[in-house]
Parts: sequence; structure tokens; C-alpha cells
Amino acid sequence: MNRAILILCYLSVLPSMALADTGKGRQLYLSYGCALCHGLDGRGDGLNASKFDPPPTNFHDLRTYRHGSGRDSLRSAISYGIKEEGSIMPSFEHIPPGEMDQIIDYLQSLKQKPLLNQSKT
Ligand code: HEC
Repeated sequence: MNRAILILCYLSVLPSMALADTGKGRQLYLSYGCALCHGLDGRGDGLNASKFDPPPTNFHDLRTYRHGSGRDSLRSAISYGIKEEGSIMPSFEHIPPGEMDQIIDYLQSLKQKPLLNQSKT
């Protein structure tokens, strides 16, 4: 009986813990200046976004990822930047690994799940 109550408490706290982590990732996203280009909520609509070609990724829309949307692809784009012609995605090699993970958690939380593949994710 006690164990059931413990499990229930744990389950009710989990969603808020997940939210708190994403909140930290968003804070880092803002403090490293990602919002300047990618927008306050990661919609690719930062201050001068419309002038960039290719435009800053809208992290909510899987169709706008040009370099892969998995954790490793995100990590590599953020750490090394994108060195293709015309791209202005800078490199952020100085971000410590723990903070990088939190930023990636935040970006992952923005992704829309494709309707057809929902059962697999
Ligand atoms: C000066 C503007 C600018 C800043 C600041 C910036 N980005 Fe970008 N970012 C871009 C542009 C433009 C692209 C698209 C480049 C391309 O596709 O060649 C991009 C692409 C990316 C991608 C690759 C996504 C994909 O597959 O298309 C990731 C991940 C990313 N940015 C994360 C970040 C994060 C996290 C930060 C902050 C630490 C950040 N960016 C800061 C402009 C910026």
C-alpha cells in the first residue's frame, strides 16, 4: 500500500521535473544568444532571420532541419557550426557538455512528432 502511494507521488512529480530541465535548457539557449537568429521560442524568427539564406532552423518543424534532427546531429551543428557557403550558423565549441545536453533537451522538446510515426517514438 505504501509502495503504491510512493509510486504515485513519483509519477506525479516526473512531469514537472521534465519541465524544469527543459526550462534550464531554454535559459541557456537564451543566454548563449541562440534566440537572436532562431527566435525566442525557437521558431526560426529571430530579429534578422528573414535576411538569412539558408534561414535559421525552426526547431518545431522537422521539415526545416537541413542537417538532421537527432541528438548527435544537433550537437555537431551547435559545437562546430555549419560551414557551408552562405550559412551563418556559428560554432559554440566553448559550451560545456552538461549545458550542451540541456540545450539539446530543450530543442528536442520543441520538435513536432510526425503524425505517421507516432507509435515508434
Ligand atoms: C547568427 C545567427 C545564429 C545564431 C546566433 C545561432 N544560430 Fe543556429 N543556425 C543559424 C542558421 C542560419 C542555421 C541554418 C544553417 C544551414 O542550414 O546551413 C542554423 C542551424 C542550426 C542547427 C542545425 C539544424 C538543422 O539541421 O538545420 C542547430 C542545431 C542550431 N542552429 C542550433 C543553435 C543553437 C543551440 C544556438 C545557440 C547556442 C544557435 N543555433 C545560434 C543561425 C544561428
